[in-house]
Amino acid sequence: MSGIAVELDDVHKSFGKTPIIRGARLQVPEGERYAIIGPNGAGKTTLFNLISGRFAPSSGDIRLKGESIVGLKPFEINRRGLSRSFQITNIFPRLSVFENLRCAVLWSLGYRYSFWDRLGRLKDARAGAESVLEQTGLAARRNTLAGLLPYAEQRALEIGITVAGGAEVILLDEPTAGMSRSESDAAVELIRKVTAGKTLLMVEHDMSVVFGLADRIAVVVYGEVIACDTPANVRNNPAVQEAYLGARVAKLNAR
Ligand SMILES: Nc1ncnc2c1ncn2[C@@H]1O[C@H](COP(=O)(O)OP(=O)(O)OP(=O)(O)O)[C@@H](O)[C@H]1O
Ligand SMILES: [Mg+2]
Repeated sequence: MSGIAVELDDVHKSFGKTPIIRGARLQVPEGERYAIIGPNGAGKTTLFNLISGRFAPSSGDIRLKGESIVGLKPFEINRRGLSRSFQITNIFPRLSVFENLRCAVLWSLGYRYSFWDRLGRLKDARAGAESVLEQTGLAARRNTLAGLLPYAEQRALEIGITVAGGAEVILLDEPTAGMSRSESDAAVELIRKVTAGKTLLMVEHDMSVVFGLADRIAVVVYGEVIACDTPANVRNNPAVQEAYLGARVAKLNAR
């Protein structure tokens, strides 16, 4: 056990000839909440795609709990305890809220089950889904088709799906995008609750969400982590202000 949940070690990724991730380095200790911020197109989602195994890095190493996960398939990385959400809503719209959560739990339990433990697993999945339903405040919506939920509740469901399998490392890509102030305040509370004791990496543009939730902020600019520090230090870091944060913090301070 290294104490480091996720580690990026000189990670590079090019698409064709275009370098997108250019020597990214980051260490996220177990149990901490990290926000990843940076301009549009900086490579934040690409980093998530690399960490979750959707793409392989062109070079460099990515470690989960001290072990390299380069070359593993997304489901294998998921089985090792990492779960991610997507920047766009990613639910089964024609399944009920409950069925969406139960699918997520079943998936995490694995599909290579035998006939004999099948019923046991279905029971476990039901219990797991019930518990997430409770945590996400969606109990009253259990039988609603997910596609018919209001947008903010779809995103809450998505957070529920991401944590339903019991992963210790959670990656959320812009979980409050498109929400009103009060909706994103509620989302922050939900994220705080469902990720308690877990490691969280969260891409987020909304600075009040970032400063409210993150233990540390990693600033990604043009495929590199140019700073990784406490919110207060990042706020006062001149390089960060120049590259990205200036206008946004000014806006936040003016509130
Ligand atoms: N599969 C891909 N093939 C080719 N180019 C890609 C691919 N995925 C991402 N890119 C490019 O990589 C760059 C970084 O994209 P990425 O989605 O990681 O940015 P981001 O930091 O998440 O931006 P945003 O804040 O807008 O979500 C962009 O120029 C994008 O066009
Ligand atoms: Mg993105």
